[in-house]
Amino acid sequence: MQIVNSQISIEKTTHSRIKEQDINNTPFGKVFTDHMLVATYLDGSWQEVKIIPYGNIPMSPSLSALHYGQTVFEGLKAYRSPTGKPLLFRPEANHKRINESAFRLCMPPIPEEIFIDGLKELIRLDADWIPTQSGSVLYIRPIYFATDESVGLKPANSYKFIIISCPVGAYYSEPVKLIVTDKYIRAAEGGTGSAKCAGNYGGSLLADKEAKKQGYDNVLWLDAKEKKYIEECGTMNVAFVINDVVITPQLTGTILPGITRDSVLTLFRDMGVKVEERLISIDEVAEAYQEGNLSEAFGMGTAATIAHISTINYQGKDMILPPVNERKYAPEILQKLEDIKTGKVTESYGWVSEL
Ligand code: COI
Repeated sequence: MQIVNSQISIEKTTHSRIKEQDINNTPFGKVFTDHMLVATYLDGSWQEVKIIPYGNIPMSPSLSALHYGQTVFEGLKAYRSPTGKPLLFRPEANHKRINESAFRLCMPPIPEEIFIDGLKELIRLDADWIPTQSGSVLYIRPIYFATDESVGLKPANSYKFIIISCPVGAYYSEPVKLIVTDKYIRAAEGGTGSAKCAGNYGGSLLADKEAKKQGYDNVLWLDAKEKKYIEECGTMNVAFVINDVVITPQLTGTILPGITRDSVLTLFRDMGVKVEERLISIDEVAEAYQEGNLSEAFGMGTAATIAHISTINYQGKDMILPPVNERKYAPEILQKLEDIKTGKVTESYGWVSEL
């Protein structure tokens, strides 16, 4: 069924909560805007798309997503341009990726008319919630899950696609401390590592909990087979600067194909920086550190943006990286990316859409 913009019904809230919130100072992911988009898929077609006041959704205890994890999601952000216009960064890339994730989880694709047009309509309606203060933005969370009321294991016949959004500050307020684990794995070849599915995140929590107990922020995952090659961090992709080359793990199918990762690599290449997407072992990183050739490590993600990595613990030893003010590549790319996303500089990639 073809859904067009005019078929999105809108029910506005009668009581905006915006005045009750300091949208420039909210903890990450705790305060939600006035509205949400809800689309329903049933028996082979998209039935209904509506924007309604943000609120709870009815749910049966037999909801299939709760039992078998047919749930995928996205993360993107809306910014305010220098003239106050709402801007979205690469929403088409999120649309493409959610459909790739959906394919892996046997879920039907979401049409552009619902994902892109619905997203734009929703953000236009809640545009006042986009923070005005630098460092705060509107984080958008599209979520797509199975809604069959059945405990039989099979791809569901019914789904909900929902978009909610929340004003947020920094995901990491300080440079990040990572610990390498060989006790747990995040994803194996042939698994769901490259899909943005809920199960990947749930499966990482115990390792992260143990990392936090030891004083680290997150785990740095290694490949499942050899426990040798660096994968990602769970909350973000990672890159290392060794001898002035930006090196990041290649997309092997076990890590998330990050949109921030792709944007960073594109910008670096166009700036003439040498970039390598390849297998990179933790031993190579440790050796570069020993020889004084590891000048930076950083994470790349929508929530995390560019997160400087201060420490990497490997086999019980901390590699302490240079302070941020001595770094060259990550601070520059962070600034460049923020200037593009907020419309301070024009870009020729077609990444930014004004609403
Ligand atoms: C994002 O960066 O948008 C994510 O979904 C990561 C999540 C851990 C907040």
